[in-house]
Amino acid sequence: MILAIRLVSVVLCLALLIQTAIARGFWGGKYQRQGFIHPGILSVQPDLDRMKYGVETQTDPWYSAFLNMSGDPMSSSSYAMKGPFNYVTRNNTGGSPGTTQLSSDSVASLLNALMYYITGDTAHAEKSVEIFNSWASSLKLINGTDAQLVAALSGTELVNAAEIIRYTYSGWTKSDITTFENMILKIFYPPASQTTPNTVDPHPLNALLTLVFSSQANWGNSGEKAMVAFGVFLNNVTMYEQGLNLYETFACADLNNTINSFGQNSESGRDQTHPQLSLGNMAELCQTAHNQGDYGYWDLLSERLMIGYEYTAKYNLGNDVEYDPNFYRCDANLLGGPWADISDVHRGQFRPIYQLAYSYYVQVKGLEMPWTAKVLEEEVFEANDSVNNIANSPIYGTLRFSRVAGNAWASRK
Ligand SMILES: *[C@@H]1O[C@H](CO)[C@@H](O)[C@H](O)[C@H]1NC(C)=O
Ligand SMILES: *[C@@H]1O[C@H](CO)[C@@H](O)[C@H](O)[C@H]1NC(C)=O
Ligand SMILES: *[C@@H]1O[C@H](CO)[C@@H](O)[C@H](O)[C@H]1NC(C)=O
Ligand SMILES: *[C@@H]1O[C@H](CO)[C@@H](O)[C@H](O)[C@H]1NC(C)=O
Ligand SMILES: *[C@@H]1O[C@H](CO)[C@@H](O)[C@H](O)[C@H]1NC(C)=O
Ligand SMILES: *[C@@H]1O[C@H](CO)[C@@H](O)[C@H](O)[C@H]1NC(C)=O
Repeated sequence: MILAIRLVSVVLCLALLIQTAIARGFWGGKYQRQGFIHPGILSVQPDLDRMKYGVETQTDPWYSAFLNMSGDPMSSSSYAMKGPFNYVTRNNTGGSPGTTQLSSDSVASLLNALMYYITGDTAHAEKSVEIFNSWASSLKLINGTDAQLVAALSGTELVNAAEIIRYTYSGWTKSDITTFENMILKIFYPPASQTTPNTVDPHPLNALLTLVFSSQANWGNSGEKAMVAFGVFLNNVTMYEQGLNLYETFACADLNNTINSFGQNSESGRDQTHPQLSLGNMAELCQTAHNQGDYGYWDLLSERLMIGYEYTAKYNLGNDVEYDPNFYRCDANLLGGPWADISDVHRGQFRPIYQLAYSYYVQVKGLEMPWTAKVLEEEVFEANDSVNNIANSPIYGTLRFSRVAGNAWASRK
């Protein structure tokens, strides 16, 4: 019995090594790859199987988390679509038609995709496909001063959903997939990567990539995570690498300029929701890279992202933290900064971002995140926070990302 289990794990390990070697290219080199692993943004096949197994065997935390998600009307196969629209606007003033509807539909497509894989009920897959197809055949433009945010955040939810459906359900036609791919490339990618100049937020060129990546801090890393996710879905290595490069080198939205050495976020003086959005974005980017065999991202700068999570968790739980008034985001002056002190605006209003980072650092890597653990123990939230009704974060983290250290299901690197 034990021998058989060992044999199975040896075979699994070998398969993983080979898969990784193929994905990375046999030549080495930073991101040389032959192809992407699919499904492969936030949930690769073993993640989907872990969820399904947990539910089928009624094992917690997955089973309770699944029951919770099943009770969300957005996971229902009878969810009534809020769109589609010909254009979606997110603007500083004067209204944002289509934004909450797109956001809602993208979350519904994701929850239905997860429901489909876990339960096998094709009505859920059909709901996701209905959402993908109707938006892809209607949407022509995402505009407005804050277009980057809606394109990056809703776009990332959509491709996470589409990635699951495309690679686990046979009923989404090839031509409909192509239409959807075109929507991501032509309608979502330009504003998400901010290749179009923006009058309200006109920031320095990124000389490295010679594109007008005009966004920063939480906007910037929303865009970075979207580029990485879109790159995987579109099988576009250039786009994928672009997002990763920005995360490492773009002065207004890279890791080092977003979180300092003791964990302060460049927007900690502004409020507490933007730093949390930013942490969730960065965690999504790291996990997506990790799932493609680019393992270093979570660990960059001595686990700087983990330190950032701990700092924000500790402060939002009501504790004092160190604060450096000289560490702040680019163009802080446009937002009332630089800020002399850490902000208590929205302090204690948690976003559903914590499990994803906890799963990697604690459950996989064996490090400690006592403040994040306390948030997960004490604060009840999976999808919504009290500030942003529609989640733009790695929602339903308990179901999607939980591992148990030492458990066979957690053995994937
Ligand atoms: C969009 O917001 C900008 C900045 O607040 C404003 O100047 C512009 O008039 C708005 N556009 C519309 C169509 O409301
Ligand atoms: C967005 O595009 C629509 C459709 O072309 C237009 O009517 C609207 O004024 C635009 N909004 C902004 C803020 O640019
Ligand atoms: C891949 O993405 C880049 C942007 O990073 C884009 O310029 C290029 O056209 C895309 N390639 C394809 C084949 O769509
Ligand atoms: C990170 O930023 C600090 C300044 O805040 C700088 O001193 C340090 O060299 C940077 N580290 C890296 C790896 O870029
Ligand atoms: C799911 O959990 C949330 C707390 O995260 C709770 O508010 C909600 O009522 C639960 N929903 C169901 C259907 O259990
Ligand atoms: C969030 O909350 C709203 C209303 O409270 C609910 O309708 C929705 O289904 C929830 N879930 C998500 C993922 O936003």
